[in-house]
Amino acid sequence: MAVAAVREWRARAGQGAVLLDGFHAVKHAVRFGAVLPMALACDKKAVLELADQLAPDVRDALDALVVETDEAALRGLVPRLHPTGVAALAVRPDRAAQLAALAHLPRSTPVVVLDQPRNLGNAGAVIRLAAGFGATGVVTTGELDPWHPTVVRGGAGLHFATAVERMDMAELPPGPVFALDAEGEDIRDVVLPDDAVLAFGSERSGLSAELRARTDRLVSLPMRAQVSSYNLATSVGMTLFHWSSTGERRGPGQV
Ligand SMILES: C[S@@+](CC[C@H](N)C(=O)[O-])C[C@H]1O[C@@H](n2cnc3c(N)ncnc32)[C@H](O)[C@@H]1O
Repeated sequence: MAVAAVREWRARAGQGAVLLDGFHAVKHAVRFGAVLPMALACDKKAVLELADQLAPDVRDALDALVVETDEAALRGLVPRLHPTGVAALAVRPDRAAQLAALAHLPRSTPVVVLDQPRNLGNAGAVIRLAAGFGATGVVTTGELDPWHPTVVRGGAGLHFATAVERMDMAELPPGPVFALDAEGEDIRDVVLPDDAVLAFGSERSGLSAELRARTDRLVSLPMRAQVSSYNLATSVGMTLFHWSSTGERRGPGQV
């Protein structure tokens, strides 16, 4: 690979470009309008064959974008190179625009809040769920960066299909807060409104006191006695499914 390309990749990565690792992440980013200044692959022909099979809608865009490079050089830039052998850098969406999208009213689909999540894989899975259900966005509080490469990988590049930002509790988007907790009222008796803020606690300690203070209704997912809790991402999936099947407007088919 040309020295200039390596230098450009490193410079962009150092300036906060989003690493898209693997075919599905690159495909989703292209499909949902991300700006991709660079994409590299060890075998461009194989990437285009994959596009022919799985995503013909993005084939031409990938053909124009992907530059073939040798595997060793690519592994030097992307240490955990995905088996599909393709990676790209994307421009991270403007924070102000994301915050505006999250704050915009009226809102026709919920915002998901993860209160101090710890596990990067869980955060990625939640972003993938939010994108699939057409949620307005995913907000995290606490230390975890929802744009960390491991989160982006877990989210299969679907960060670009919804709004994703970290923010302080005081800045949470408007809307009634429905917080999920095993001690709440049974979700099956609750209609989740389309402008709901659906909040979930951290894997270790559940909902924080600050989140509880903002909560309008505490809601539980049905669970057999003696089971302590569900996995965080699984809980988000069940809750979004409940919203989609019982909410004011049925998603995601109409999103
Ligand atoms: C792994 S659980 C946290 C368990 C934690 N030890 C606790 O004290 O809550 C992560 C989050 O998933 C959601 N969750 C898990 N099981 C749930 C249930 N049965 N009902 C409602 N929410 C649940 C809650 O938002 C919870 O804070």
